[in-house]
Amino acid sequence: MMSFSSPSLGYTGVRPELDCIVEYIPGESLEAFSGRTGIPLHQLVKLNSNESPYPPIPEVLKALSNYTNYNIYPDTNSVALRSALSSYTEIDSKFIVVGHGSSELIFLLWHIFLSAGDTIICCPPTFSFYTTSASFCNASVLEVPRTTTYELDTEGILAALRPSTKLIVLCSPNNPTGNPVHEKDVLTLLETGRIVIVDEAYVEFSDHPQGMARLVPMYQNLVVLRTFSKWAGLAGLRIGYALCPEWIAQYIRRAQNPFEVNMAGHIAAILTLKNLDYIQNNVRCIINERDRLFSLLAQQPYLIPIPSQGNFILAHLRDQTVKIEKVRATVESLGILLRYFQSPSLQNSLRVTVGLPQHTEKLAEALASIEI
Ligand SMILES: Cc1ncc(COP(=O)(O)O)c(C=O)c1O
Repeated sequence: MMSFSSPSLGYTGVRPELDCIVEYIPGESLEAFSGRTGIPLHQLVKLNSNESPYPPIPEVLKALSNYTNYNIYPDTNSVALRSALSSYTEIDSKFIVVGHGSSELIFLLWHIFLSAGDTIICCPPTFSFYTTSASFCNASVLEVPRTTTYELDTEGILAALRPSTKLIVLCSPNNPTGNPVHEKDVLTLLETGRIVIVDEAYVEFSDHPQGMARLVPMYQNLVVLRTFSKWAGLAGLRIGYALCPEWIAQYIRRAQNPFEVNMAGHIAAILTLKNLDYIQNNVRCIINERDRLFSLLAQQPYLIPIPSQGNFILAHLRDQTVKIEKVRATVESLGILLRYFQSPSLQNSLRVTVGLPQHTEKLAEALASIEI
């Protein structure tokens, strides 16, 4: 990991762990991709960050431009949004904390619970931001890999527990493998008394969109994380929320900067929840498109797609007859952004976000043009 040094100071005073951070590499932005490849922005198809291909609902766009009080700070207690979320999740608003994207809540929770030397259990392959945040706290990650079918290894997790283990994080459906966590596994892990975090960023696309929310009021050690970035098409406005016991909610609020969720985010999230039918129709379209994308990926003789309950599909290269570099060069030359991985277990895999039908067509054409 690179360290930055001041040309004039011999000593920076920076915490040493900042030079050992496991960096999180987000999906490339449209601007960066366009700059790198020279392909104009309007020709690009962005299928690398699991964003919704649908814009926010028209009511949101109208309300954002009609609102005139952006000179006033937002309600730091997010009373109206938490009340709307309470109706949506059927969980009392005292169990709800709103954040500037669920990644803010991940970062805060890790800092609340993990001191230097503590451990967190992660089950790779999974969302790598969990590891980045742990390294920021100078805590260690105990990796309990998923099985060959990407199921959790619950026995393995129980065996890996140490006195220093403060958190167990589970992603459901899991990014990037797309499979959900079973409730019975969560219940088993809750019995350990450790804080169990279930990240449900993609739950709205799953067969059980209500997720684990209903368990929250029953447990003092369960946190469920959600976001408006995926199903609700609001990734650019950064709104997430945690469903958690009151005592954890109080610590999150204590650790959080005031006014972290901005006014635009509040307006957009509240109106999205008021127009659920519209947005849930988009979710249904994405689920249908996911099935079509899966078939088209499966038609490529060199690809093995994995069934997914998220708005993305992971696909492995069948063997080395077609190399990942070749796939990447071909799709990128046509302006298509996909997600690639550095970890050894996924070096020959790619993840495709479900886009619009025309995005699927363009990708399928690009993949079909690759000679074996
Ligand atoms: C599993 C998972 N959790 C959380 C996030 C963060 O979402 P946001 O910060 O946009 O709410 C992502 C984003 O890709 C994700 O894949």
